[in-house]
Amino acid sequence: MSSIKIQKICCIGAGYVGGPTMSVIADKCPDLEVRVVDINNERIAAWNNSDLNKLPIFEPGLDRIISRTRGRNLFFSTEMEKSISDADMIFISVNTPTKTKGLGAGQASDLSWVEASARQVAEYAKGHTIVIEKSTLPVRTAQAIKEILKTTNRGNKKDEISKTFSVLSNPEFLAEGTAIHDLEKPDRVLIGGEDPEAVDALVKIYLNWVPSKQIICTNLWSSELSKLAANAFLAQRISSINSISAFCEATGADVQEVAKAIGTDKRIGNQFLSAGPGFGGSCFKKDILNLVYLSGYFGLPEVANYWNQVVVLNTWQQDRIYKIVLEKLFGTVNGKNIAILGFSFKANTNDTRESPAIRICSDLLEEGAILSIYDPKVSFKRIAEDFEKLSFNNQGIWKMANSIPDALKNVDAVLILTAWDEFFGLDWNYLASLMRSPTWVFDTRSVVDRKEIENTDINLWKLGEGN
Ligand code: UDX
Ligand code: UDX
Repeated sequence: MSSIKIQKICCIGAGYVGGPTMSVIADKCPDLEVRVVDINNERIAAWNNSDLNKLPIFEPGLDRIISRTRGRNLFFSTEMEKSISDADMIFISVNTPTKTKGLGAGQASDLSWVEASARQVAEYAKGHTIVIEKSTLPVRTAQAIKEILKTTNRGNKKDEISKTFSVLSNPEFLAEGTAIHDLEKPDRVLIGGEDPEAVDALVKIYLNWVPSKQIICTNLWSSELSKLAANAFLAQRISSINSISAFCEATGADVQEVAKAIGTDKRIGNQFLSAGPGFGGSCFKKDILNLVYLSGYFGLPEVANYWNQVVVLNTWQQDRIYKIVLEKLFGTVNGKNIAILGFSFKANTNDTRESPAIRICSDLLEEGAILSIYDPKVSFKRIAEDFEKLSFNNQGIWKMANSIPDALKNVDAVLILTAWDEFFGLDWNYLASLMRSPTWVFDTRSVVDRKEIENTDINLWKLGEGN
């Protein structure tokens, strides 16, 4: 076992990954001091808010953990220098968005923030420090981090203790909305690295709550690639079932029945077979595009094209839904009122990154629709920022609704885009009385049961359900 004793941990990046991951580590390892640092003052202030409903991210169970760890052995701050220099182990959990310009624009990951973090570690760290890649990164990024850290001993003052580093990869597999459960009971923990002492030190931390047989140790590059591959496989399943959903609509089959029938085959499995408006979230698209870019870079164009198709189909699914809404509403939505139920990329999160709702709603707004958007957790500000980033030609109007009935008042159609619990089992008899006739309900998440609308004049279109 490792002779390295870890007492203080620092995590750079207090986002959707860094925040919950460090909260759970602090909870499970009360003897460790965990400091989460971020350059964003506002975000850190929100993490320190005494009102636990105002944490910067919504994640079921997170408030419970924060209430017992924050101020005990978990601290959020912007004190980069001190937190880094005190730490024995540093997690880098900053964002790695897709590059928007330069070489690899639109596909490769922008590693500016990872590089900046590595430079800060190089500058402020003291003694021996284990540096851990938590962000999802292109294969061989660890090499770049090592190079940056290596430069640090150059020109050291004589009296300064020499700095040494070990770099590990420890990708996070948590899914938003179930992050706390995924962290507390992970399917596996993956650790890649070449320094056995450093690997052991990290294994020891996880052993506080994860059985040893679930901790997989690999070389650095396998670990980095496994994260990209896992996300690519998951996204591929969604594109596969979504392609079948269109087939079902064309043939009279029902995608729910097909998913059940194929999912009972143990080799296929029943998870990740829900057809929907396409995958969103910060990872899937970014990671596949990164895999596509790297495949091209390593001279594997067939591999690149294969994975690129997963993203192509995802965009097609979103476009297809918008076109169906248009077609059913007699070819125009100009001036028509449409309620949007759900804007987050999936239920149980306030995150809207890459949410299918952004593209579908902006397409409808370009056609002049009047949208009333209801989402239990997403704020007006966030939606406004999402639309602004897309800079499309808005010919319509959108507003937020406070409740489902408020959203549905006088609408010609309802479009359900997220499967929030509260959208199931609605009283459609009552809701139909609020809407204009003829009324359409477009259900892309299979939340409405046909029986619930049988006594109403609602026309129901369900994704993946043929006639
Ligand atoms: C991020 C990456 O996007 C993803 O690839 C990886 O798998 C995990 O980390 P997430 O936590 O969802 O995911 O990102 P985000 O919520 O944007 O948080 C990143 C945080 O890092 C932000 O709060 C940002 O302010 C902070 N940051 C960024 C720094 O503290 N320093 C920097 O130099 C850059
Ligand atoms: C994903 C991975 O699951 C996680 O392991 C990784 O660490 C980060 O990326 P996340 O993006 O938070 O997590 O959510 P996930 O539950 O995977 O859903 C991603 C998208 O796929 C959502 O838009 C969701 O609605 C969609 N989805 C998921 C489907 O359309 N059908 C499904 O059957 C499952």
